[in-house]
Amino acid sequence: MPIKTIIEPFRIKSVEPIRQTTREQRLKLLEAAGYNLFLIPSNDILIDLLTDSGTGAMSSEQWAAMMRGDESYAGSPSFQRFKDSVQSIMGFTHVIPTHQGRAAERILFSVMCKNGDVVPNNTHFDTTRANCEFTGAEALDLPIPEALKPARQHPFKGNMDTARLAQTIERVGTRRVPLVMLTVTNNSGGGQPVSLANIKAVKEICARHNIPLYIDACRFAENAYFIKLREPGYANKSPREIAQEMFRYADGCTMSAKKDGLANIGGFLCSNDDTVAQAEKNLLILTEGFPTYGGPAGRDLEAIAVGLNEARHEDYLQYRIVSTAYLGNHIAAAGVPIVQPPGGHAIYIDARAFLPHIPATEFPGVALAAELYVEGGIRSVEIGTLMFGKRDQNGVEHAGPMDLLRLAIPRRVYTQSHIDYVVEVILEVWRRREKICGLALTYQAPFLRHFTARFRRLA
Ligand SMILES: Cc1ncc(COP(=O)(O)O)c(C=O)c1O
Repeated sequence: MPIKTIIEPFRIKSVEPIRQTTREQRLKLLEAAGYNLFLIPSNDILIDLLTDSGTGAMSSEQWAAMMRGDESYAGSPSFQRFKDSVQSIMGFTHVIPTHQGRAAERILFSVMCKNGDVVPNNTHFDTTRANCEFTGAEALDLPIPEALKPARQHPFKGNMDTARLAQTIERVGTRRVPLVMLTVTNNSGGGQPVSLANIKAVKEICARHNIPLYIDACRFAENAYFIKLREPGYANKSPREIAQEMFRYADGCTMSAKKDGLANIGGFLCSNDDTVAQAEKNLLILTEGFPTYGGPAGRDLEAIAVGLNEARHEDYLQYRIVSTAYLGNHIAAAGVPIVQPPGGHAIYIDARAFLPHIPATEFPGVALAAELYVEGGIRSVEIGTLMFGKRDQNGVEHAGPMDLLRLAIPRRVYTQSHIDYVVEVILEVWRRREKICGLALTYQAPFLRHFTARFRRLA
């Protein structure tokens, strides 16, 4: 009989202690932070599922590569190794390093968008939306209808609604659509993958109108593995081959290497268009750095070069996808409503269904995040009305499309017993869910308000 248990495909060489706090301490910390877990010091967090971005553990090969880092201002061999690694998977002509994903977005949109433009995406991530809107363009989400129904099963819930894409281009006119984006996997839509069939269909529409297609590539390797598992015709292809095919349909990409680059910092912007790339490099020099380092240090470029390759190893991807699903399946089996099927990098609890007595305008996702912290020192993040809703000039709060609570799993960091602990804490909060109350927003910043918002508990 073949062994069925899927294990962490690594052993641990260096450990980092995590600190227990008491319930009373956590209640005080939470109140001092205005019920916003971003404002709690990480020393006071036991299990940190705030994000999978930049929080992964690097391999011994990555640490070794960092020692090779060449910190020359111009023409460093570290840049060459980084560029070769990116091009071997993504194939684009121009590879522009940035300090992280949002810097790539800012440069891309600054060069390509202007006031009145429309940029369709399956779902814009928060920084993507903010950087797009900062240029005066409209960031338009076109997910398939199934994506907005958390309990609905669908193998590729991250797909874009291609009929609506075609209608949008028809309605606003080609000249107002400078680019189309596809986010793989769709983070804000539940970490759900996009199929190759959908990438091809989106590309066909774009090509008909001569509009470039860009991929937000943060989790390209996880997306490629889902294609291998779920899309007919790809079972015998390697994640690398599938990723190469995904990028063949695109004209460029933005990437936060803090995800499937398995690095703690870094990102890049790619393009096949010489004119666009030149304008991007000019802007890069203004705010990020010379085009052969662009923000990260030479050693960070080395870590990314190795990480991009490790992220597409099949044993790593199998462990990654199966261990994330382990958390989702265990809480769902006890009745906790989650976005189905489990995503690649995170489990999303449907906070509206978990706390149906709390209206969306009283932030059920933020309230649930606070309770998981009080119960067990777990940090998670709301992806809902705080992140995507809006308060109008009259002070009226408008709900976001869903209220989700994201439990993002850092790469290669937590073991199965950590996740068993998380399951136990969530189920304890689930048992006392009727006693949880909503929150009122007392402070918000003009952009990306979720990072610094403050709340008070409603009686
Ligand atoms: C889909 C997606 N796009 C862009 C970004 C922005 O990347 P960064 O945090 O490196 O700026 C993120 C970060 O979480 C993301 O998930």
